[in-house]
Amino acid sequence: MPEEVLEYLKPTPGGIYLDGTLGGAGHARLILEAAPGSRLIGLDRDPAALDKGREVLADFSDQVSLHHRTFDKAGGVLQELGIELIDGMLLDLGVSSHQLDTPDRGFSFRHDAPLDMRMDPTFGETAADVVNQREAEELSRIFFQYGEERYARRIARRIVERRQEEPLTRTGELAELVKGAVPGGYRPSRIHPATRVFQALRIQVNQELEQVETGVARAINLLRPGGRLVVISFHSLEDRIVKNLFREQAKGCICPPKLPICQCNHQPKVKILTRKGVRATSAELEFNVRSRSAILRAISHC
Ligand SMILES: C[S@@+](CC[C@H](N)C(=O)[O-])C[C@H]1O[C@@H](n2cnc3c(N)ncnc32)[C@H](O)[C@@H]1O
Repeated sequence: MPEEVLEYLKPTPGGIYLDGTLGGAGHARLILEAAPGSRLIGLDRDPAALDKGREVLADFSDQVSLHHRTFDKAGGVLQELGIELIDGMLLDLGVSSHQLDTPDRGFSFRHDAPLDMRMDPTFGETAADVVNQREAEELSRIFFQYGEERYARRIARRIVERRQEEPLTRTGELAELVKGAVPGGYRPSRIHPATRVFQALRIQVNQELEQVETGVARAINLLRPGGRLVVISFHSLEDRIVKNLFREQAKGCICPPKLPICQCNHQPKVKILTRKGVRATSAELEFNVRSRSAILRAISHC
């Protein structure tokens, strides 16, 4: 959503911007082009994205600094750089096309690959660790809560039975197992039966919802007055967190409703710029099918 990002972030010449999810650096480059002389701090938890970013932003190397960090640590990075407040921040959540299309990363059931799914391959539990080590009940919770999978318990039970014979290590094995566990199996007209389980595991492995919850709340405190935060979510679980955090911070009086006059003097911290989430235009959908589920929300700091 390049145009929408520029419309809501409104980068201005000489400003300081932070892209917390650098990915292929497409948005970062747009920001630098739109705002001559600006400074861009790019973060990504995936070292491969930072390598790509260095390439894509090579023309702007003296305006850019890139860091291998999760975006909830943006405040620490700014401190290291001696920057107190910034003019804008972008969070384009989820996995990048590059991650999805690299079979070895294990994000997709369409390629048989090691069951990994870590956006940062240098750190933390893999999807194989989760499916082979968690209790059935915990697996069922993960599939239900993060994938809204109605056959969560059945799939979890099947995984536990299966791993007693041998551990699950490949995306293909897991996709087949899920297909066999759900009634009706695979019907080409519907989404693949493993779609929800793969989404759930990815969210669990990367602690995606915790990152959004903490990262967005902290990001607001890094903005100067008038500074803007733009967040693009790719599923309703993320979007709900963003929407609620923005609403919370946009509230004025927080006195109990029965008090006749305000006693809290609470002031809104942010102004919501997108009453409803902004969706990709049909023109964008035509060449970027992944933008189908994208929802953009933005605020400005009061
Ligand atoms: C959708 S892509 C971003 C694409 C980017 N806006 C562009 O123009 O190419 C998301 C990127 O964010 C990174 N990412 C996801 N969650 C992150 C987090 N909590 N902290 C840092 N990077 C994260 C992923 O590794 C991935 O490279």
